[in-house]
Amino acid sequence: QTGMFTYDPGFTSTASCESEITYIDGDKGVLLYRGYPIEQLAEQGDFLETSYLLLYGELPTPAQRADWVHRITRHTMVHEQLARFFQGFRRDAHPMAVLVASVGALSAFYHDSTNISEPKQRMVASMRLIAKLPTLAAMAYKYSIGQPFVYPKNELDYTSNFLRMCFAVPCEDYKVNPVLARALDQIFILHADHEQNASTSTVRLAGSSGANPFACIAAGVACLWGPAHGGANEAALKMLEEIGSVDNIPKYIARAKDKNDSFRLMGFGHRVYKNYDPRAKLMQKTCHAVLEAVGKKDDPLLDVAMELEHIALHDEYFIEKKLYPNIDFYSGITLKAMGFPTSMFTVLFAVARTAGWVAQWKEMIEDPSQKIGRPRQLYTGAAERLYVPIDQR
Ligand code: SDX
Repeated sequence: QTGMFTYDPGFTSTASCESEITYIDGDKGVLLYRGYPIEQLAEQGDFLETSYLLLYGELPTPAQRADWVHRITRHTMVHEQLARFFQGFRRDAHPMAVLVASVGALSAFYHDSTNISEPKQRMVASMRLIAKLPTLAAMAYKYSIGQPFVYPKNELDYTSNFLRMCFAVPCEDYKVNPVLARALDQIFILHADHEQNASTSTVRLAGSSGANPFACIAAGVACLWGPAHGGANEAALKMLEEIGSVDNIPKYIARAKDKNDSFRLMGFGHRVYKNYDPRAKLMQKTCHAVLEAVGKKDDPLLDVAMELEHIALHDEYFIEKKLYPNIDFYSGITLKAMGFPTSMFTVLFAVARTAGWVAQWKEMIEDPSQKIGRPRQLYTGAAERLYVPIDQR
């Protein structure tokens, strides 16, 4: 009994959904996109091909792939009025704040792809989002450092284009480092989708009301920002920098185990993985390749990260609670070595996760049994009672 209200003990509050897109076996540390192991996609595929697979369920034929890349490439520019939208922000605004706003603002420009009952409009909206997120992300970065926006160049591949939009300046030519472009492409594949995580569920819930796709993805960006979710890569790097050296690790391990201390090892633990996050293993490999490519293979932060991982994996607290490194543990070191500031780490996560978000949104919209989302609640508040006038309180 809660007050006058009783509730059915058989009532279950877990909302779940069926999907054909991503499979995770948390105990075995398995991650499949449309049945393909993440390891094979990251090592043999590329991000745009993966975005096609997530959306349409099959790897593209050479002709389908060429058409897909051609169409995405020609949606990479944004309306010039959007560039003026950025001018309203302070320069020190967090790039995630700018990204949430600018992605939502796409709804104000692309009216010809907001009618979700039209399959063609749904497809164009999906392509525009995958194509324009890197451009908006690069614009948010450039704005934060007071440099002019750099337009996309159609002859570059997806991640080379993004790196150039972020790091090129008008005063000199910019040469993309192919090792970094390939590493970033693999990082995007690892971050592309992850079943019904918090931000994907946000996108699905927003989409279930019939909101336009740009608004739904903006809602996903907002949810991803949290440090317990996509913001963990920024938090994990800050934690490693705060630890500073291998000697300080035991103090932080003790804090992570102390129930009275709110400190958690950022980049460790997961709602689903109770084994090593397969993405974390691939992320560690990419991290080594990037540090090698930029001449920072002796980065002390990598030593701290690897020693922290080693200690935690042999500590009974983490073993008993099945806490392993997740994708965010090594991504911060890698992205910092590429030249990105910590404030851009979750922005990069959002660029990659847009492929999964639009695929999950499309699957939900095209499900004929789909109804508006309405999570149930167990009421535990006050029973009905009479109003008390203020002079009697
Ligand atoms: C992502 O859902 C997704 O798929 C997300 C994601 C994706 O691709 O979309 O994978 C991306 O968000 C990865 C997670 C990034 N977040 C972090 O790295 C932040 C640090 N991790 C934690 O905050 C935590 O592990 C969560 C939020 C990820 C999970 O939280 P839970 O569900 O509380 O963790 P759990 O059930 O596994 O916890 C079991 C126990 C708890 O202790 P008890 O309450 O049982 O005593 O382990 C403890 C937790 O307190 N614990 C930790 C810990 N994570 C969990 N203790 C110390 N350090 C940690 N990192």
